[in-house]
Amino acid sequence: MRVSFRINGDPVAVDVEPRLHLADCLRDVLSLTGTHLGCEHGACGACTVIVDGAAIRACLMLTVQAEGASVVTVEGLSSDEALNPLQTAFRKHHALQCGFCTPGMLTTAHALLTDEPDADADRIRSALSGNLCRCTGYIPIVDAVLEARAAYRKADKPLPGTERFLQPVIAADRVRYVGEPLAVVLGDSPALAEDGVGAIALDIAELPPVPDRHASGRGEILLFEGAGTNAAMVFTGGKGDADAAFRDADYVRSDRFAVQRYTALPMEPRGVLAEWDAARGRMTVLGAAKVPFFNRDTLAAMLGLSPGDHRR
Ligand code: FES
Ligand code: FES
Repeated sequence: MRVSFRINGDPVAVDVEPRLHLADCLRDVLSLTGTHLGCEHGACGACTVIVDGAAIRACLMLTVQAEGASVVTVEGLSSDEALNPLQTAFRKHHALQCGFCTPGMLTTAHALLTDEPDADADRIRSALSGNLCRCTGYIPIVDAVLEARAAYRKADKPLPGTERFLQPVIAADRVRYVGEPLAVVLGDSPALAEDGVGAIALDIAELPPVPDRHASGRGEILLFEGAGTNAAMVFTGGKGDADAAFRDADYVRSDRFAVQRYTALPMEPRGVLAEWDAARGRMTVLGAAKVPFFNRDTLAAMLGLSPGDHRR
């Protein structure tokens, strides 16, 4: 049977027998051998992967049941550049010896902390109670998960957008949204430029959409793998002694407010002119802005320049 799903963010289609369980598919068909097989009947947890956000036993799930799902294996927890915070903590706390149980421990803990970044030691023990370790012992494993919690508390992360700039000027390898610029065409005349546009051939595989912020917030499909989150910015504001103000208030109401995505658009047309000085490796940008230094630093980061090479 043909089964299509996402594996670590990428779409995949496999032809499998209906009886093939997901762990065998991952290991033998997709060569993702990080998912281990111990008991093959749901007792040891070594085969745990994350399916649509939930930790499940891949030995108890048929591949055909993954149709349309998002599956994350231990290979999907880290990038080539960096370990996942759980992996870093496991290494620090010596939370593995032979490592056989480790992928299942990591995926189970990742699913837990994604939903419950404040899980205490009891909750962590409970969540990991279905994962057996035969050589390390559980104390360092629980200690490692406790330490990794901070990285899962989104509010504690550095403000995304302040330390990195994730807006490529032109889509490279991956188009992330409808309307993203794909190419720049230069021509001696508008007609020649239009001819150039017509000469561009695109070979694009359409990806399933991420339709709402809830799906996006789960982070199973990341716009930028290296970011580890789809949150563009987490911002915590405060002024004065907020605790005292709430404490002394006659009436306090707690609520959660959510607003739709929006962006400010100027009513007047705006243009911007950039001039690149190749001899000095310096760019001058002429345009209207209320935050010129922020814009300068942003553009410099996006273009790989130092802010001093960029005038606005
Ligand atoms: S191999 Fe799946 S639970 Fe043991
Ligand atoms: S580290 Fe060996 S089974 Fe857990």
